[in-house]
Amino acid sequence: MKTDIWKYGLVFSMVATAVLGLTACDTPEPAGDDGEVSVRTGSLPGLPQHVRGLLAANKITPIAAPPAVSPAMFALGEALFYDKILSGTRDVACATCHAPQHASADGRTLNAGINGAGIGPDRTGLIGGRHTQPLFNLHLLPGNLTIDGKVELINGLVSPLGLGTGFIPYPVQQLLGFDVVNTQAILPIATGQEMLGFPDPHDDNEVGDCTPFDLACVWGAYMVRIKAISQYQPLFTAAFPNTPWAQIGITEVGVAIGSYEYAAFAFDDSPWDRFVAGDNSAVSAAALRGAVTFFTPGKGNCVSCHSGNNFTDLKFHKTLTPQFGPGGTVPGGDGPGGLDDFGRMRNSHDAADKYAWRTPPLRGVEVTAPYGRLGQYTELEDHLLHYINPTQALLDYDITQLEMTELHTTLLNNTADVLANGVDPLLSTVHISPADVPDLIAFLYSLTDDAERDMNHLIPATVPSGLPVDQ
Ligand code: HEC
Ligand code: HEC
Repeated sequence: MKTDIWKYGLVFSMVATAVLGLTACDTPEPAGDDGEVSVRTGSLPGLPQHVRGLLAANKITPIAAPPAVSPAMFALGEALFYDKILSGTRDVACATCHAPQHASADGRTLNAGINGAGIGPDRTGLIGGRHTQPLFNLHLLPGNLTIDGKVELINGLVSPLGLGTGFIPYPVQQLLGFDVVNTQAILPIATGQEMLGFPDPHDDNEVGDCTPFDLACVWGAYMVRIKAISQYQPLFTAAFPNTPWAQIGITEVGVAIGSYEYAAFAFDDSPWDRFVAGDNSAVSAAALRGAVTFFTPGKGNCVSCHSGNNFTDLKFHKTLTPQFGPGGTVPGGDGPGGLDDFGRMRNSHDAADKYAWRTPPLRGVEVTAPYGRLGQYTELEDHLLHYINPTQALLDYDITQLEMTELHTTLLNNTADVLANGVDPLLSTVHISPADVPDLIAFLYSLTDDAERDMNHLIPATVPSGLPVDQ
């Protein structure tokens, strides 16, 4: 029957969608199972062509390469990314939360920062208000970073934390290349819960004694530390041959870490990428059916928000999500007791953006559970099922699914307020049923590059400070 229908070729997408709805109950094949795939796609000759039509309509192309990075720059960025000397408390590195062992995230519901040990779900440490986002293909996230866009470009200038484009002086921005990734790289080191720590005259954290948000003080204190470590000088000089050692400052730290992130976490060889490049046998029939649901208006229409090669429009949407944990922690929470998180409104200062979140990219989503800005869904399936009726899903949200049991008692009673603030109109254009979910999952799994499954080779044995590196 499928063959009969598909041989008529392209039928309009609405008809195709109806057909796919009927076939959606088939057990999905594992993505990348080439033998199985060629059999299945062979029985559906029109399906790959149909998806290629959707690619063209949605301007999906092979992805651009990340910026070129010299080996010397990579080596410096690597040292800084894994070195806990860049935390006031000397117990957190970028790699503590963005661990290669956990697909450049931490596998936790909420992140754990200073005053802790270990990585991943077992890490101890002060709990932050958000779920750690992975660092895949950051060159495909131009313009804004984080789930509320708290590091963003406005008219070509970087505004951090809604503080405006004047907050970081122009010459500093210039040295950072007006680049959100390079700029973001020197901000977690200045936030109390993540890496800085808090003022305490009795501890050995001299950086944390700076007044909060006094970036010049914080950055200066870190540079004193770094320059006292003799192994850093040759690394900086090799990466920045035209900058005298005396002039090396925090902007070079930002550029080096940013360059490392761009290069180390760029992946372009998922089954989906191979399909886009022309190989019809690269993905399973289930993944192709899932792609049709994803890209078709009147069906999943996921593409209305998850658009482009990185599956994000970089815009902000009210998607009706629950709230728990300590609240938005940088620079402090919202609402009564600071336990709420108003999302995009924190940076745009526009009440219309209350509870709106940036559409996250979806590449590698298979390996970055749990899901959502708070890691509110432990299973990908449950995140997808919530799109069937987001209002009901919010009302029925079951916090006991969280592996961090200490959060089970922290569900905030803000549901009425979230609902009163409305929902993104695009969310009501999503029409999926439970039967669509297995194929959607097969499609989302096809976005994983095998190299993302094991990135342990990225981890250096040692760093210049001699502080331990989590292996
Ligand atoms: C204590 C854990 C923690 C540490 C340490 C940490 N991060 Fe993050 N990172 C997070 C969390 C949580 C988010 C998501 C924040 C949000 O959405 O508001 C994030 C987001 C990001 C993003 C944005 C990703 C996106 O999808 O927009 C980048 C880039 C990033 N971190 C880089 C770094 C770098 C570089 C360092 C070291 C200087 C670092 N992080 C240190 C927890 C951490
Ligand atoms: C109205 C815009 C919109 C539409 C339509 C939409 N999404 Fe999302 N999606 C979002 C936003 C915003 C988030 C983040 C929500 C949060 O963090 O609480 C998200 C989160 C996700 C996540 C979790 C990603 C992660 O890393 O945590 C997945 C998976 C996902 N969406 C898939 C889909 C699929 C599949 C569809 C179609 C059935 C879809 N989305 C439709 C906006 C949208």
